[in-house]
Amino acid sequence: MREKINEILERTLEELKSANDSQSLDAVRVRVLGKKGELTGILRGMGQVAADMRPKIGQWVNEAREKLEEAIGEAQKKIAERELEKRLENEKVDVTMPVEGRSAGSLHPMSIVLEQLLDIFTGMGFEAVEGPEVELDHYNFELMNIPKNHPARDAQDTFYIDDNVVLRTHTSPVQARIMTTRKPPIRIVSFGRVYRADEADATHSPVFHQLEGLVIDEDISMGDLKGTLDTFARRLYGEGVTTRFRPSFFPFTEPSAEVDLTCAACRGKGCRICKDTGWIEVLGSGMVNPKVLEMCGIDSRKYSGFAFGMGVERLSNLKYNVPDMRYLYENDVRFLRQFRG
Ligand code: PHE
Repeated sequence: MREKINEILERTLEELKSANDSQSLDAVRVRVLGKKGELTGILRGMGQVAADMRPKIGQWVNEAREKLEEAIGEAQKKIAERELEKRLENEKVDVTMPVEGRSAGSLHPMSIVLEQLLDIFTGMGFEAVEGPEVELDHYNFELMNIPKNHPARDAQDTFYIDDNVVLRTHTSPVQARIMTTRKPPIRIVSFGRVYRADEADATHSPVFHQLEGLVIDEDISMGDLKGTLDTFARRLYGEGVTTRFRPSFFPFTEPSAEVDLTCAACRGKGCRICKDTGWIEVLGSGMVNPKVLEMCGIDSRKYSGFAFGMGVERLSNLKYNVPDMRYLYENDVRFLRQFRG
């Protein structure tokens, strides 16, 4: 019996050496020490053994079991260590490896220019306000001194929602909304979409953006308008860019002026972009028509003001030398990607 127990012990110790994961280790343990295991079997078979031998055999079995349990414990520790090492090896991250470039988005050229415009004008003390795109005829036309049947309405190719509601054709109705609700001094700019029933081409779109400015106070003169726009031109396009005023007509300003800026591409020398004139037309402006002031409830004997409105697509394309307005709307990433940084 002693030999048999020793044989089991030796053989199992040998097997334990080659068990190299916790599963096979467990299999060995169950086969020898489990309920139906080899060693347990010997204890169970004790009935057939002479009574005086029983304590001896019991002792041998227990000794063998103790040895085996110790050996299993050792083996388990080793296996656990090895498995941990393996896992660490697998999960290793090489922090010196080069990473794929992160592709960050970029601002749309219109957004870049808009941010600059707002910076420039808020820097001069203007407050940025907004107005609705679906606008009452009353604000878009009537208070802008463009009554029904006025020929200026045709020039604007208006989208009518119904007789009294339009998609605003310019940002000027925001002037009326501000003048009818505030008292001077007023100094606001307003940016947003405007709509005209135009075919889309290189210089037209049925939806485009304007930036409107309005100043009303005592003793405001055309000189203030000129000074404001000169500063704006210089800040947007750089030193040397200035304004040229040409007489014009808008029902809501009197007198009115179209304003050209020095061509930023050739600095006034003349090029393809300015058609060799050295000037680019960018905005409409004028002194707020006293009739408009009165209609909006402002005393035109006490107060005067100026207003201007500019097309933002044009400003943006001039700045970046983009030849066609449609690039701004098509959102081709090959175009947009160029405005990084
Ligand atoms: N609203 C005019 C337009 O859309 C521009 C303008 C604004 C002219 C303010 C004068 C004063 O063409």
